[in-house]
Formats: sequence, structure tokens, C-alpha cells
Amino acid sequence: MLTDTIQPSTDPNIEIANFTLRDEDLPEFLDMKFEDINQLALDHPGASDEAYRTRRDHIASLAKNFRETGTITDVEYTDEEQGVWRYVAGKLEDLQQKYASPFYLGAKRDLGFSNDRIPQLSEMNRRLKELTGFRLAPIEGLVETRAFLSWLSYRVMLSTQYIRHHSHPAYTPEPDIVHEAIGHIPMFTNPNFADYSQLVGHGARIATDKQLEELGRLYWFTVEFGMVEHEGDIKAYGAGLLSSFGELEHAFSDQVERRPFNLEQVTNHEYTYSDMQPVLYVVPSYAELKEVTRKYIESF
Ligand SMILES: [Fe+2]
Repeated sequence: MLTDTIQPSTDPNIEIANFTLRDEDLPEFLDMKFEDINQLALDHPGASDEAYRTRRDHIASLAKNFRETGTITDVEYTDEEQGVWRYVAGKLEDLQQKYASPFYLGAKRDLGFSNDRIPQLSEMNRRLKELTGFRLAPIEGLVETRAFLSWLSYRVMLSTQYIRHHSHPAYTPEPDIVHEAIGHIPMFTNPNFADYSQLVGHGARIATDKQLEELGRLYWFTVEFGMVEHEGDIKAYGAGLLSSFGELEHAFSDQVERRPFNLEQVTNHEYTYSDMQPVLYVVPSYAELKEVTRKYIESF
């Protein structure tokens, strides 16, 4: 079995803007209560499939193993899992050609993405390291907002490895490898987007509870559901859009109001997880997103 080593901490002095992150500020990682996050929700399509639950638990245990050893274990995906990937990746690719940001589409090619095979976090890390120094660390499932965002300050994104249930390939109520790999990973090869993510992470570490809520909304309307201007057109770069047929088509329909990005509006915009998004925000560029966010976090 292939393995790759990644340590939770990086350079002891990562400098970005006026911020210096020190190793002693590292969020608690080994002590996180993972039994609380390793739950399959009752409304999950695989909730009553015993074989699926066992398989998901096994893949989740590899993430637990990572925290104990610092080593990422590659997952030997089954033919059925590869089949789910082939179906979803192929179908999303067609929609993305129409709607995704050109940067994202180029990044997928640069990363060597294949619609035929689920990528391993370890191979993605080797390529990300060369491009922006971003890294992925395996996780069993959703963790609370401050912990998740704080890891971005180390240019680390916590990432699940298991895949959605085969009965509903278009849908998952929790993050899975389709969402992480197709939705998130390509954008981390963009230097401005990587710096922006790190700034959000830094903000999460020093934020009050109210500011943390604001950062959660900023993350939602950019990293998950963001749109960007491109040569007079609007394109999608958010992971929640790029990894969902339904959300991606909906985002460009008449049912959605696409507003110019305004940081104050975004950080105060309450949203719901369960419905399709009625309002989305369009950034002029990733560089501008980074600069307004830098100023905002400097005010914390
Ligand atoms: Fe996500």
C-alpha cells in the first residue's frame, strides 16, 4: 500500500501580510474529539446499508491513523467506488466546460485529474506542494468551524477520502472525495486563492465568536459557492457549485440573483444549508478577494 508522510505543522514562521504564525499557535489536532465527527447521518443514502457503513468506517479509520502516524494511507478504492466517480466526474465535466472558471479547468488538467480514477490525497499533495505549498490532511468527516478553518492558516485543508453511496451518485449530505477533489483541490493551485484561504484560516484563529460566524459566511459564499468575473462573463469557482450538477445549473438560472461581491454584505448574509442558494456573489478577481479579506482580518 502506498503511503506518504505529511506533518500537521509546517514552517514555524509562515509570514503572510503582517501576520506571523508560530508553531505554538497550532490548533489542537491530536486531541480533537473524532468520535463526535465520525457519524453517518440518518438521512444519508447509505445509512441503512451495512456494507457501506463498514466501508466508510474503514476509510475513516485511515484518517484516524494519519493523526497517529503523520502518514497518509492511500485508499484502495473498489470497482463500485470507481464507478461512482466515473459517473459523477464525467457528468460534472460536461457542465463545468460551460460554467466553471477557466483557472479551475486549467488547474484540473495541470493536476492530472482523470474522470476514470479517484485521485489519492498523497498524489495531489505532491503536485500542490510544487505549485502553492497547499496540502490535504485526511479527516473522518465534518469538524467544527474554528478547527476546520484554522487549519487553512497552515495551508492545510482537512479532506475526507470516502465516496458517496452508489444509489444516489448525484447527491451526498456530507463532504466526500468527489466534493473535496473535484470541488476544492484544483483551486488551491491558484496562488491568490491559496493565500486567501490562509488568511481566512488566520482570521479563524483570532476571531471572536461573532467574527467566526462572519468568516463562516465568507467561506460559504466564496470557497463553497463563489463566482468570479471572467472577460465580461460570470464563472463558478466554489466547490459546492463545481461538485454538484444541481447547484451548478441552478447557479446560472434565472432563479438566482448574482450580486457583485461586497464583503460587508457577505459576512452578514445568513444562508441555509438545506436549500439551493437564491443569492450568490461574484468576485472581480481572486487577487481582489484576497486584498479585501486581508484588510478585514487586519481589523480583528
Ligand atoms: Fe466543501
